[in-house]
Amino acid sequence: MHSDTWSPRLLALRELAAGAFAEAFGGEPELWVAAPGRVNLIGEHTDYNDGFVLPAAIDRHVLMAVSPRQDRQVHLVAADFPARASFCLDEIVHDPSQRWSEYQRGVAWALQEAGHRLNGLNAVLVSDVPVASGLSSSAALEMAMAYAFQVTCGLELDGVQRALLGQKAENQFVGMNCGIMDQYIVSLGKRGHALLIDCRSLEYTLVPVPAGCDVVICDTKKRRGLVDSEYNRRRQECERGAEALGVRALRDVTPEAFAARQSELDEITRMRCRHVITENQRTLDGVEALRRGDVALFGALMNASHASLRDDYQVSCDELDIMVEAAQRQPGVLGARMTGAGFGGCTVSLVRSEHTPAFGREVARAYTKETGVTPDVYVCQAEDGVRRLD
Ligand code: GLA
Repeated sequence: MHSDTWSPRLLALRELAAGAFAEAFGGEPELWVAAPGRVNLIGEHTDYNDGFVLPAAIDRHVLMAVSPRQDRQVHLVAADFPARASFCLDEIVHDPSQRWSEYQRGVAWALQEAGHRLNGLNAVLVSDVPVASGLSSSAALEMAMAYAFQVTCGLELDGVQRALLGQKAENQFVGMNCGIMDQYIVSLGKRGHALLIDCRSLEYTLVPVPAGCDVVICDTKKRRGLVDSEYNRRRQECERGAEALGVRALRDVTPEAFAARQSELDEITRMRCRHVITENQRTLDGVEALRRGDVALFGALMNASHASLRDDYQVSCDELDIMVEAAQRQPGVLGARMTGAGFGGCTVSLVRSEHTPAFGREVARAYTKETGVTPDVYVCQAEDGVRRLD
């Protein structure tokens, strides 16, 4: 746990939250917690196959103003909407009318399930992580809540345990069967770095974001629709593939072994497996390329990742393809791909910094011309994971 300084974006969020806190609870909060969103550079739909991912936390945050309570009540105010939700730690029930609070309820539930003793708290939440865009605003809500309990209740919990509890909350309380990537990077991100995460051992290696390059996120504004049912279907298809190939998870199949055995699989299973197996290899190759300073190769691997997600894994959509194609045409772009679960949301591009302003303008122009929609473009810095701010 460490403190940190306030960036201008965080200061703007604090002003909003401080006003809402005074209004809702009186006085000032005792604790400020910031949890970032995330972008995945490469390694998509590999986490639940025990594979490799390379996400970075980004400088867009959920900020939480917190004061502990002596009783078992949790009072939450979402100042952006605005909305309020309350629950008691003795009986954590769902509240479909306040869906945003499912994440906080789920985290409290998962912490207690793991045997942690909690007290209540009052909290105000504000956020500049776009919602339903595939930048993990939900993992940010979960990790902010877990961290708030950790500090106010003095819980012993390391970053990986915190991520696993967040994932359990999402899987078992919220009902979204996600992998570990989002909670992990939101919990453990490091400024200036992406993390190569081994989703089997749950160990990570720091990989610096290449100097002279920007990570640019373009939001298609297409909100992810099909994602839950299709996501679960992909997971099942991968499990079927692993079983047919006689391995614990697709992580255990090399591209060579796959080439030798792929004819044993039906067509859909073969396509899904080919994506996961080649994506794992691209992720490892991409990290090697960055270590050697070969950003051009890394970019080419990002482009190949998009093609594989579009053609073999079939989780892209027209809006994502239009944005990626516009991005890949621009001068100074090293690579571009969809990021996150797919079916809408955002793309990620690696761009040489001197080209970034023109890149953003031109991609937005091309996207609007084809779709009639004005996208959002964010130039992001790789940020630290969830932390306390003083
Ligand atoms: C979502 C899930 C992650 C991961 C990605 C796809 O973001 O929450 O666990 O599976 O999709 O890479």
